[in-house]
Amino acid sequence: MTKVSYSDKIAAYSLKKSPVILAIETSCDETAASIVVSGREVLSNVIISSAAEHVKYGGVVPEIASRAHTDAVDKAVKSALIDAELDFCDLDAVACTYGAGLLGALLVGVSYAKALAFGLEIPLVPVSHVRGHLAAAYLADKTLDPPFIGLIVSGGHTALAVVSDYDKMQILGGTLDDAAGEAFDKVARVLGLEYPGGPNVEKLAQKGTASVVFPKMLKGTGGYNFSYSGLKTAVINYVRSAVSAGREYSPADVAASFQAAALDVLADKAVEAAREFGLSTIAVGGGVAANGYLRQKLAEKCLSGSIKLVLPNKKECTDNAAMIGAEGFIQYRNRNFAGLDLNACASVMLK
Ligand code: KG4
Ligand code: ZN
Repeated sequence: MTKVSYSDKIAAYSLKKSPVILAIETSCDETAASIVVSGREVLSNVIISSAAEHVKYGGVVPEIASRAHTDAVDKAVKSALIDAELDFCDLDAVACTYGAGLLGALLVGVSYAKALAFGLEIPLVPVSHVRGHLAAAYLADKTLDPPFIGLIVSGGHTALAVVSDYDKMQILGGTLDDAAGEAFDKVARVLGLEYPGGPNVEKLAQKGTASVVFPKMLKGTGGYNFSYSGLKTAVINYVRSAVSAGREYSPADVAASFQAAALDVLADKAVEAAREFGLSTIAVGGGVAANGYLRQKLAEKCLSGSIKLVLPNKKECTDNAAMIGAEGFIQYRNRNFAGLDLNACASVMLK
């Protein structure tokens, strides 16, 4: 009797109408697992973070992150199943982040997902982490349908796109140098704040006023592109020259001024894009979208422009697996299934 291979079984697999997808995310320092039904309903969303282990190094140490994923991935998946009151046999597919991210970290999730998909004889769905960030919007608003303007702002990516269909986007612009989150992390270091930088800059900014004039970074220019290195350098120079001249300065005012300069431009360009392309919805994703100042700016500008704003809750802005389940569903419907030769990729294109 000839044995039927995994790839033959998957080739013959019939798509389920309301698939139960287990999603796994291990691209950075969060080991995350989630159960998502039909790409919209989150039954569980487990995150085990190794962030505390990286604090003393001032950033994520890849080897420590990989080891932490190895320790946590099985626990995260089992907790996700328990929270959802499901068992392995209830799963219709396994989705996993295959890139972008730290290679060693990604490989833990990819390898776990492969083994599970093979053992359960269900499809393995490869998901782009960056697309996942935007797909979190489908969880936030169950009626959200393309077309809309998508704004992705994370530690590794800053991009503005026209999302014309679930699997189609036209990139309008991106960062020419640093990503928005990266700039927050670098400014945090200059201000002596601990990793993770973004939330700590935001906290400090709440105590200050945006009174320091920093360059407005491609505001009103540069089309839909962004640039953060000039702003970052201006903050570094401001702090260093104050310190070396023994001049007093307010770190809280620096944080508030940097935050306003870094984020106003995102809200302005997203609204401008909605106007230019005649779209009435803006959806935002990525860690920086957890920032209260950005959320408020976007809300104000969208309100005055009669634009609907879709913002994922803060847990689903920063790294999580529910967003991977949302994007995984889109790929599942397209039968974008991976073979057991799926590899991790440090960088993947957004498109
Ligand atoms: O999306 P994410 O969790 O991971 C990546 O895919 O990069 O984004 C992490 C980035 C970090 O740079 C972090 O400093 C930034 O998002 N971030 C924030 C806030 N929370 C996270 N930046 C500004 N304000 C926040 N509240
Ligand atoms: Zn991310």
